[in-house]
Amino acid sequence: MDDDLTAVAAMVSGAWLTLALRAMVRLRIAELAAEPVGLAELGVASGCPPERLARLLRVLEDAALVRRQGAAWQVTDRGSLLALDHPAGHARRVLGQTWAPTIAAWSDLSGALQDGERRFGRVDVPTDGTTMWEALSASPPELATFNAQMASRGQAQADALREAADLHAVRSLVDVGGGRGSLVAALLAGNPGLTATVADRPDVVREAAAALTEAGLDGRADVDAVDFFDAVPPGADAYVLANILHDWGDDECVRILRVVRAAMPDTSRLWVLEKVLDAIPPRTDREATDLHLHDLHMLVLFGAAERTQGEYAGLLAEAGFGASTCRRTSTGWDLVEARPLGAA
Ligand SMILES: C[S@@+](CC[C@H](N)C(=O)[O-])C[C@H]1O[C@@H](n2cnc3c(N)ncnc32)[C@H](O)[C@@H]1O
Repeated sequence: MDDDLTAVAAMVSGAWLTLALRAMVRLRIAELAAEPVGLAELGVASGCPPERLARLLRVLEDAALVRRQGAAWQVTDRGSLLALDHPAGHARRVLGQTWAPTIAAWSDLSGALQDGERRFGRVDVPTDGTTMWEALSASPPELATFNAQMASRGQAQADALREAADLHAVRSLVDVGGGRGSLVAALLAGNPGLTATVADRPDVVREAAAALTEAGLDGRADVDAVDFFDAVPPGADAYVLANILHDWGDDECVRILRVVRAAMPDTSRLWVLEKVLDAIPPRTDREATDLHLHDLHMLVLFGAAERTQGEYAGLLAEAGFGASTCRRTSTGWDLVEARPLGAA
């Protein structure tokens, strides 16, 4: 019973701790205290009076994210995972997940469970747009954080394709909703014969174009500003939808898939990268919990859901694709592959 009381108490204050991590990231504590630093100096660098900053530091110390060494403070190995440029991407996840409109959406999860409708932009917290995509466009810092958070997954997604897809016959590829182009950049780096297009919303492909140029991929990778409910670039050997369908309800998924199907030659193939709920072999408990929480996140943000293999197969069939396969990869991403119905 005592264990249960302790476990529930930790869950109850869990949201506060996550919000304390937001303050840690915004004040750049992991960066400023990478080496031992005095409280006064840390206060000046973070813009907080030292006595008030100490109140945050003792919470972070309780969570083993910082430690005191005499009069100095230093971030621990665990705390250094919350530096903004750490490749694990946790700092950007914290910023994205604790953005005020996102927290507001979660505050009415019970209502979303009752009616299945998104709560983002509908709970009583002002945002500059109706949908999350509009709100991001209206808020450049949040858009940059979101795009960087997404971009941190590009290497793993490219590895998943290399592991589970046959890339040999593929010369051209379109990454639909490809964000900042990190999947394309990672994939092209190891596949010299491949060219690719990143198709996404106009303000996102602007960032993708700059990132692809910086990666030295001009001439092999380009971008296309699209609304994937209207059209995507036609004629490629393969189309990727990485972490797109889980943002949308079933009807919208079928609309997106039909648009992609219409752009595809019959010989082309579609690769959907998602994390399916019924992965075989099953995910670890930690990974499964993370996915189950993401499922609720998709509900409150978009009225959407994480799905099973069978549910993805059903959406694909409705949109004009033949039987799909689903392959588990060592990256955590699952690859659902389908070809246009009737294709050889
Ligand atoms: C969850 S992110 C995934 C990004 C990337 N594929 C990845 O896995 O990291 C969804 C992407 O869909 C894009 N998106 C949303 N609505 C769109 C639309 N109507 N047309 C084109 N792209 C859209 C967003 O801008 C965003 O880049």
